[in-house]
Formats: sequence, C-alpha cells, structure tokens
Amino acid sequence: MIELRSPADLDKMRVAGRMMADLLNACCGQIRPGVTTGEIDAFCRERLRTFGDGTAASGSLGYMGYPAALCVSVNEEVIHGIPGARVLQRGDIVSLDVCGSYHGFFGDNTRTVVVGGAEALTADVRRLLRVTRRSLELAVRAIRPGIHLSDVSHLVEKTVVEGGCSVVREFTGHGVGRRLHEDPPVPNYGKPGRGAILHEGMTLAIEPMVNLGKAAVRTLPDGWTVVSRDGLPTAHFEYTVAVLKDGAEILTPWFEQDPWSDDWMAG
Ligand code: MF3
Ligand code: CO
Repeated sequence: MIELRSPADLDKMRVAGRMMADLLNACCGQIRPGVTTGEIDAFCRERLRTFGDGTAASGSLGYMGYPAALCVSVNEEVIHGIPGARVLQRGDIVSLDVCGSYHGFFGDNTRTVVVGGAEALTADVRRLLRVTRRSLELAVRAIRPGIHLSDVSHLVEKTVVEGGCSVVREFTGHGVGRRLHEDPPVPNYGKPGRGAILHEGMTLAIEPMVNLGKAAVRTLPDGWTVVSRDGLPTAHFEYTVAVLKDGAEILTPWFEQDPWSDDWMAG
C-alpha cells in the first residue's frame, strides 16, 4: 500500500526534509583530513539535540538497533558504516547518510564527499561520483505522475551502466513519510514500464548505490556495514522527493539555488 500525502502533510515533510538537508550539509562541513568518523557522529548528535523544538528530530540512533546518529561509509563501504575511531585521510570518499523525523515525518538524504576536495580524487573515483550523482539527477528529473516506478529504476541502471559502473542490487530506495521505510521499494535497476504507477502525493527516497567495480556486496560481522566484495570504492547519493503535478519536488535540498550544482564535489 503506497500512501499519498495531503498538502498539509507535504508541508510537514518540507520542514523535516529541510532540517535533514541542513544537518547533512553541516556534517559534510566537518569532513577534513585527520577527523574521525566518530567525531562526525558526535557533531551530528549535538546538532540533533538542539534542533527545532529540541524534542522530535531523532536521527538514525536506535533505528532497528542502529548505534549512531548517522551512517558514515568510507571508500569500499556502501551503506550503514558505523562511525568510530577511523581517521579520515585525504582522497578518501565518505558517504554521509542523514535521516530523521520531525513532528511525525521523516526526511532521508545522502551524499558522498571527498576528503581534501575534488583535487584529491583519482580519475576513476571522479567518474564513479559523477555517474552516481548524475543517475540520481536523471531519475529525479524524470519523475512525474503517470510514469511507472520501474521507469525511474531503469533510468538509474542505464546511467550507471553507460558510465562503466555497477548498481548495488541488495538495497533499494523506498517510500518515506510517517515511517522511514514505507512502500514501495525503489530498486536502482529493472525493466521499464512495470509495476506501480507514480501518483501525485507520493513521497520517495531515491538513492542510487553504485560500485566502481563489480556489483556484489557483503555485510561485515558488525551486522551493519555493507562493503563492496571486490573492495573497490562505492558511492551513494540520495534525495527525498515528493511527486507533484508537474514533477518531483526535492524535500531535502542540499543546495538551495541549484540542486544539481557541482558544488558537492567541493565537500
Ligand atoms: N537512511 C538509511 C536508509 O535509507 C537508514 C539509515 S538508519 C540505519 O536505509 F539504521 F538503517 F542505519
Ligand atoms: Co534511504
């Protein structure tokens, strides 16, 4: 069952989404060589504590037993990296995944940033980041009422494959609203023209997870951290969007002016 949001609910999701986008931006601002992933988690917790009315924004802490306020996934870590003692180094790529609820509605967003800025990248990893970010952009730009959800999935996969990278298949985007994970699952692959049709009022987390090497992943013994099996770098970009009459509205806008600006490359 895919829930549809009323205009009043959409307004609440705009508030929650903006909050989670601001928090993601603030956490990205903490990234530099020498900082530990645990320090970013501590920063995120402190921000959450003082957010809004100080009561409702929860982060990912305690979600299904997850032990930190955000996910910090470095290099070969795809998703759900647990922040801790790891020291970030120039050239590392770091996916920060920030989600949480405010007054009853969730926002969920992720981006992958480069420690030390874009100059610290190798050509291959630069391509990985560009392709992953581009697949999110094309997917979000394609969204409108009446198309199939699988059209969006297909577009992500096509973009990734044409860019010489591979799509992680074990994890998907999802509906998001009163709960973090709602129907429908939003795979990043598949044939077009199948399954659910998009309707005005749906709210979705679109989140391509893309490997530079092969698609296979495995979960580490900590029960959370998902890594690429071949150990090659992996990237993840995510927006929460609403399906509106004329297309998608981004509810977690990292960049106010232009959501598709290349500023993410800078940090
Ligand atoms: N934002 C992540 C997602 O969409 C969830 C992070 S919370 C965790 O799945 F507990 F699952 F890590
Ligand atoms: Co998500």
